[in-house]
Amino acid sequence: MRHIFQYCIVLGILPGLGSAYSSPDTPPCRFAPEVSQQNVLSHTDAFVWDLLYWEGKFHQNNVGYNTANGMSYDGTLLDPQTGLHNISGLHPFSAASKESLHVMVLAHTIAGNHLAARFLSPGNLKTAPKLAFDILEKKLQTYLKFNETFPGFGGFLPWFLSNDTNLQPTLDWIDRVPALDNGELLWSVYAAVEALGRSKSAKYQELAKGWQTWLDYTKTTAAEIKPLNHNQLFYNGTGRVCAVTTIGNQSEAIGSPSQSYTCEGNNTLNDPYEGELFAWWLYLFSPHLTPSEKEELWVVKRPQLVAVDWHSNTSLGDVTVQKGYWFSSHEQWKLLEMPYTDVPLIERIFHNAERARTCNSFLNRNPGMYASVNNITDGTGQIVGYISNAGIPSISFQQVQELDVITPYSVFPTILFNRSVGLAWWKNMVDGKGMQNPYGSTESERADGSGISSFVSWDSKITTVTALLGGVTDFVRSKMKSDGVYKEFIRVAQREYQLAFPGRLEGEHVGLCLPTVAVPNTGLVKDYESCQ
Ligand SMILES: *[C@@H]1O[C@H](CO)[C@@H](O)[C@H](O)[C@H]1NC(C)=O
Ligand SMILES: *[C@@H]1O[C@H](CO)[C@@H](O)[C@H](O)[C@H]1NC(C)=O
Ligand SMILES: *[C@@H]1O[C@H](CO)[C@@H](O)[C@H](O)[C@H]1NC(C)=O
Ligand SMILES: *[C@@H]1O[C@H](CO)[C@@H](O)[C@H](O)[C@H]1NC(C)=O
Ligand SMILES: *[C@@H]1O[C@H](CO)[C@@H](O)[C@H](O)[C@H]1NC(C)=O
Ligand SMILES: *[C@@H]1O[C@H](CO)[C@@H](O)[C@H](O)[C@H]1NC(C)=O
Ligand SMILES: *[C@@H]1O[C@H](CO)[C@@H](O)[C@H](O)[C@H]1NC(C)=O
Ligand SMILES: *[C@@H]1O[C@H](CO)[C@@H](O)[C@H](O)[C@H]1NC(C)=O
Ligand SMILES: *[C@@H]1O[C@H](CO)[C@@H](O)[C@H](O)[C@H]1NC(C)=O
Repeated sequence: MRHIFQYCIVLGILPGLGSAYSSPDTPPCRFAPEVSQQNVLSHTDAFVWDLLYWEGKFHQNNVGYNTANGMSYDGTLLDPQTGLHNISGLHPFSAASKESLHVMVLAHTIAGNHLAARFLSPGNLKTAPKLAFDILEKKLQTYLKFNETFPGFGGFLPWFLSNDTNLQPTLDWIDRVPALDNGELLWSVYAAVEALGRSKSAKYQELAKGWQTWLDYTKTTAAEIKPLNHNQLFYNGTGRVCAVTTIGNQSEAIGSPSQSYTCEGNNTLNDPYEGELFAWWLYLFSPHLTPSEKEELWVVKRPQLVAVDWHSNTSLGDVTVQKGYWFSSHEQWKLLEMPYTDVPLIERIFHNAERARTCNSFLNRNPGMYASVNNITDGTGQIVGYISNAGIPSISFQQVQELDVITPYSVFPTILFNRSVGLAWWKNMVDGKGMQNPYGSTESERADGSGISSFVSWDSKITTVTALLGGVTDFVRSKMKSDGVYKEFIRVAQREYQLAFPGRLEGEHVGLCLPTVAVPNTGLVKDYESCQ
């Protein structure tokens, strides 16, 4: 923060720099187009300071979360003209994945991170930790109450309705629970426990204990194998993890003889992407799985971890990356949470992924990059659909993709390797008409400039914020060390990547690419009245 203030002072006393970028306490809502790409690259901290101010506006009651129970809301539709939210546009539901992002930001705030404070409480940075503490306290109460009311979930969260003090599963998640989102949540809470535990305050220590109890409970229920009735939540035998489990009766205790759990179809969570976070939880912490069952988790996952070369078809040459499912940025979520990049080989592979991601868009004269995201909104302001299959087809298992919509959050893994370049892409996308609003960046836009998604959400915004905070890997690493599981994590992660990447990595000399093409101004989209 110090050098930001210094920077402002310098600007203040040097005449002739008036048009250069400055970072006032209340930056203009539409700050991004006022700044050149060169300025983003050279004065990245000042740009981050402005970005966090506006993204933080999402973190308010009835927009991003519910102050009554401390729980996230998925997001909210914005009025297509004004850009303002109203209660009828609110998505009153959320899921463990959005909770994961919320908890990551709160963990950093608790630990005194000034960037997180800028997001949470820009008017008074000092009060941010207390605000974060209060939310984490309320959130824990809500989780525990949910567990009491619906013990069949074993402490985990389904997609839930949160527009009340108490949670309830959304209609389509009654008696059902997903593993992937919960894996994301678990490691975030793990980080928050570490952040709380570092405080000297007895209150903070106590809250850390409360969350740790919740975590410990999920260790026992994630794969609960009782000899008599074979009750188990997510482990499906022989290394298979259920992606979604059907619960016999969500109101029935997990250990009750009349309770039962079934994997939905053949829906196995065996991906080497963000779903892996759940596998690690089972592997490192389940007291019920035998060593050979734990080993089988990796046997089942191994075929999906594959090396592939991205071909630039130019003098940039080839770049070796981990084959994507779609190569959507969303797939890199695990890097936000666990210290994978402590393994040098893994760090190199994921750095290469950003070479491919940025240079693929650069070479194809695309103004942005791809990630699974909500489609644009239609004339009535409703979201048209969700585009899962967005990434880079030539280096993915799933090659049938829809590549008409780009989203600011596609930059979050780039930011983890080079903040300046990632933010240059972010700026390039939010420069598009309507791509900033009173709650920060807008969900997504068509690359041809013919439409935007008049919506704001955790996924499309706060992934970028958590990447700017460096993810929570520092907290997770420390706690893994004190829990005695860090070495095992490194050993297995390294083993798996070495098996898939025995050869040389192409393309490590390639620089990350910058955008050179703007989103066209077609006249079909206008800036929001409240953010011009
Ligand atoms: C609230 O916002 C939604 C989404 O933009 C819009 O469809 C609706 O008309 C708005 N309602 C009111 C009362 O302004
Ligand atoms: C919460 O939202 C659901 C679905 O929109 C609705 O059925 C329910 O009545 C709402 N509850 C409250 C307390 O507003
Ligand atoms: C969740 O509920 C079960 C069943 O009532 C209880 O045994 C368990 O202790 C609860 N978990 C936590 C973390 O409170
Ligand atoms: C695994 O899931 C299948 C459904 O796909 C189910 O029939 C089978 O009983 C499950 N096995 C175990 C051990 O949970
Ligand atoms: C589910 O379990 C609850 C609590 O034991 C019980 O009251 C309820 O009747 C059960 N529902 C069904 C459909 O069996
Ligand atoms: C589900 O998986 C099992 C075991 O891998 C396989 O035998 C079966 O054919 C699969 N079923 C479907 C519908 O794919
Ligand atoms: C290079 O050519 C291959 C084969 O035609 C294609 O799949 C790939 O997308 C091209 N690379 C770029 C960066 O366009
Ligand atoms: C996204 O919207 C476009 C129209 O803008 C439509 O052609 C496409 O099918 C939609 N895709 C999804 C997955 O909603
Ligand atoms: C980020 O990329 C830019 C442009 O390629 C480069 O100048 C800069 O040194 C990089 N920064 C880091 C930290 O690698």
